[in-house]
Amino acid sequence: MFSERLIQELKMAQKVAILTGAGISAESGVPTFRGEEGLWKKYRPEELANFNAFIQNPKLVWEWYDYRRKLISEVMPNPGHAALTEMESLVPTFDLITQNVDGLHRKAGSQNIIELHGNILQSRCVDCGVKSDALVMSQDDELPHCSCGGLMRPDVVWYGETLPEEAIHAAFQSARTCDVFLSIGTSAVVHPAASLPIVAKEAGALVVEINKESTVISHLVDESILGLSGEILPELVKAVWD
Ligand code: OAD
Repeated sequence: MFSERLIQELKMAQKVAILTGAGISAESGVPTFRGEEGLWKKYRPEELANFNAFIQNPKLVWEWYDYRRKLISEVMPNPGHAALTEMESLVPTFDLITQNVDGLHRKAGSQNIIELHGNILQSRCVDCGVKSDALVMSQDDELPHCSCGGLMRPDVVWYGETLPEEAIHAAFQSARTCDVFLSIGTSAVVHPAASLPIVAKEAGALVVEINKESTVISHLVDESILGLSGEILPELVKAVWD
């Protein structure tokens, strides 16, 4: 299933960079954004995932995030997450860049995680910026507020917002300096994250995509492995390090 080149390069790699998207959590029961069962089919993103919409209708946006938080708090990491945790212990330098806000990589035990789009389990005050770890569930019509009086919002990146500077800097640095780059379970359409595999390729890394179907970057990467990440990643770890 795996090319000799991929196996050898992973074995010898000093630095591996991973980019994950919603697909890696699909087998845990978290819906992806696009595709037949994608979240965006049921909800209009422009209503829910931008700051203006939040200010106009915070209750609707909080309800949507509460629904997703509840769903996420009830699911467990799958063998794909676990394989990446294991990979981290086998490679000298390992950067796990994720677009996911579900915290499942952390739950699976991964350490060096770069969260590009924030974390759904955290909240942030729109006025003073203070963050809160605790789940801030909205009850009835009551919206969560900060002690300064400001409205709390989910600590995630919305459309039109810039990504956390430190995270995006670390992600591009990793893409530019890795030996092997794996793009896993992402449709690779949302930038700047979608540029990372291309940056890695231009910098000379071996770039491999793992996805259940072809994507817009399939023809740009060195190899595209079609299948479920929860099945392929454990096999890959076995093939390289067993
Ligand atoms: P998408 O929903 O766009 O894409 C999910 C990808 O995972 C698709 O290419 C699927 O084919 C693939 N996939 C699904 N199940 C899989 C499985 N079991 N194994 C392997 N691949 C599988 O999700 P993202 O690419 O993560 O941003 O979306 C990027 C960003 O768009 C999200 O982070 C979110 C959204 O707007 C923000 O919220 C800022």
